Amino acid sequence: MKKLMTVLVMLGIAAIFAPAALATNHAKNSAGAVPGGIGLGKALFNKNCASCHGVSLKGTENGPPFLHRFYHPGHHADGSFFIAVTRGVRQHHWKFGNMEPLPGVSRPMITSIVKYVRYMQKQAGIF
Ligand code: HEC
Repeated sequence: MKKLMTVLVMLGIAAIFAPAALATNHAKNSAGAVPGGIGLGKALFNKNCASCHGVSLKGTENGPPFLHRFYHPGHHADGSFFIAVTRGVRQHHWKFGNMEPLPGVSRPMITSIVKYVRYMQKQAGIF
């Protein structure tokens, strides 16, 4: 009887800890797609920019791709991202029309977004 109780207690403990262990693994896996420090920029990009610039920075019918030599850091330095978001962009490279300013996107948010864009560009061999 005592042995049975021990087994039951052990099972109870396993039941309490197993879901926590699974949750930790899951978090690790989903964060594994991009390195730490990039995840926030990715989320902010997807929320604020991807509707035009594409979920994987490949562009959409509303805006250009960033995985393009035009947006190489030598052509469009990080500063151009701050200007684009705060002041908007007049159509010049493409035929998508103007980009309107995005007042809801703060400077720290842009910093994270630029980090993510540069990381993705590097992965794609843009620089
Ligand atoms: C509603 C569509 C739309 C959204 C949303 C949008 N953009 Fe744009 N963006 C454009 C278009 C269109 C252009 C291209 C203008 C051109 O060169 O013809 C552009 C160009 C740019 C450029 C290039 C600027 C330059 O100097 O040539 C940057 C940088 C940029 N966007 C950053 C962003 C970032 C960062 C976000 C999210 C915070 C964002 N955009 C959200 C439409 C959008």
